[in-house]
Amino acid sequence: MTLANRPTILTGDRTTGPLHLGHYIGSLRARVQLQHEARQFLLLADTQALTDNVGRHQKVTENVIEVALDYLAVGIDPAKSTILIQSQVPELAELSQYLLNLVTVARLERNPTIKDEIRLRGFERDIPAGFLTYPVSQAADITAFQATHVPVGDDQLPMIEQTNELVRRFNNIVDRQVLVECEAVLSPVTRLPGIDGKAKMSKSLGNAITLGATADEITRAVNNMYTDPKHLRVSDPGQVEGNVVFAFLDAFEPDAAQVDELKAQYRRGGLGDSVVKRVLNERLQSLLEPIRARRREYEDDRAEVLAILRSGTARAREVAGATLSEVKRALGLTYFEA
Ligand code: TRP
Repeated sequence: MTLANRPTILTGDRTTGPLHLGHYIGSLRARVQLQHEARQFLLLADTQALTDNVGRHQKVTENVIEVALDYLAVGIDPAKSTILIQSQVPELAELSQYLLNLVTVARLERNPTIKDEIRLRGFERDIPAGFLTYPVSQAADITAFQATHVPVGDDQLPMIEQTNELVRRFNNIVDRQVLVECEAVLSPVTRLPGIDGKAKMSKSLGNAITLGATADEITRAVNNMYTDPKHLRVSDPGQVEGNVVFAFLDAFEPDAAQVDELKAQYRRGGLGDSVVKRVLNERLQSLLEPIRARRREYEDDRAEVLAILRSGTARAREVAGATLSEVKRALGLTYFEA
């Protein structure tokens, strides 16, 4: 195979909404760096998004462009990275079909991420088959590009485990090394909380700051951030743990000494929320201002965005097609070959 010995990275995002600061800290920032060190594929997972958005397909398709805009805005360079639309690479669906035979329904039902999501979405026993099997489709995404590294949040680790089980099973059955095992690359930053103090920032929980947020939206979000409800007077000692403003400063303020100083002062008493919030607001404004500006530029040039997606998807089809050919050859599905 042609991709040997070069790290190949595959990432994916369901296209259910624009991306936010949680995505930036958890993965986007790293991807901008990684595109210089590895061959990188970024998958706009519209097909996967459809597995739990039946009837909301319009939202899913509209957000393909939104997420692409976010990628380009943060500095993903289409000359270095390949951005592709999952639904437009039929090779992925075909590969999934073969992998589906290598996993049992019981094993799919044991996947911890799937279990959590079933609970969260209230599917109970009415689980769409496409949803239950999306880890197999995700394994196809990863293996089609012979990805060696998959940057993910810890909620995605069961997907990587299941992918590698499928890889071993397939290679074992055909008795040769066709598919490649991959490694999860965990983000060094812990999960960013929502502005309301909930454990996870999420668009659907309404506690997110999106990458395209206006200056006013950012200020408003910072002013609404959950701090220490017992910190009533400036002179009172305040608590840093569970305080969203400090969690954000940890994530976004590169000057760690300054953050430590602020924390010490806050704990001692004498530092008001409004002062810490002002520091954070300035930091977020200067981070997001150039991102928002670049996003606007691409928003105004939709034809260019579509051209980037079209050529990325075409490149992706070639790579996925080569893997699929090997898979079909290994299975003897070569009736019309000379
Ligand atoms: N499951 C990921 C999410 O929920 C999206 C995704 C689809 C993905 N295919 C992938 C992630 C392949 C990593 C690798 O956002």
